[in-house]
Amino acid sequence: MLDPQLTVARIVLDHSETAVVFQKNRIDYCCKGGVSLLDACAERGLAIGALVAELERAMAERSGAAEGDPRELSTAGLVGHIVAKHHEYLRKALPFVTGLSAKVRRVHGEHDPRLLELDEIVKGLVDALGPHLDQEEQTLFPELMRKTPDREVIARELASMMTDHLAVGALLGRLRSTTADFATPEWACNSYRTLFAELERLEGDVLRHVHLENHVLMPRFAAS
Ligand SMILES: [Fe+2]
Ligand SMILES: [Fe+2]
Repeated sequence: MLDPQLTVARIVLDHSETAVVFQKNRIDYCCKGGVSLLDACAERGLAIGALVAELERAMAERSGAAEGDPRELSTAGLVGHIVAKHHEYLRKALPFVTGLSAKVRRVHGEHDPRLLELDEIVKGLVDALGPHLDQEEQTLFPELMRKTPDREVIARELASMMTDHLAVGALLGRLRSTTADFATPEWACNSYRTLFAELERLEGDVLRHVHLENHVLMPRFAAS
């Protein structure tokens, strides 16, 4: 049985397939991943037994697509994975959802005003994530991979990374609330449905991405 005293971040590190369960239950395993499962449940008003059962089901079903343990990667390997998988994904997904969100807002915003707020959140994500990816790739990651990293630069860049992650996490929280868990109305057209599906996928990808940076990459340097 899963120990409810384990932190949420630790559970995702040990069982990556549980990430989607936390995502669905609005438990932030990235920026607030340091809390125990028990406390996270209490904070969200969820029944611990039901959540543990859901997590254990996900672990038992463990999809074939589950990735290897990222903690076993070298720093260069981990950074390479983050950039190739998550940064590249965002560079394609962000322009796509931006265009789609503007279109859905233009066509349906008048009788579904949440689409206006949603479009603002999407713009906020683009503004926050675009420069963030560049800064990691141009400054933080190269420094982490140097033979003799400059500790001052690393401390400054990691602090900046954490500030950005918190801002992105807040935007993702608003995204989920505004879309009411990405539920589309009966009348929603294909563009509307595609937008919500893409945004849910984006949320999942960003959560995994930030989790790797906060809980696998950063601890290697923060303590040194
Ligand atoms: Fe990143
Ligand atoms: Fe990041």
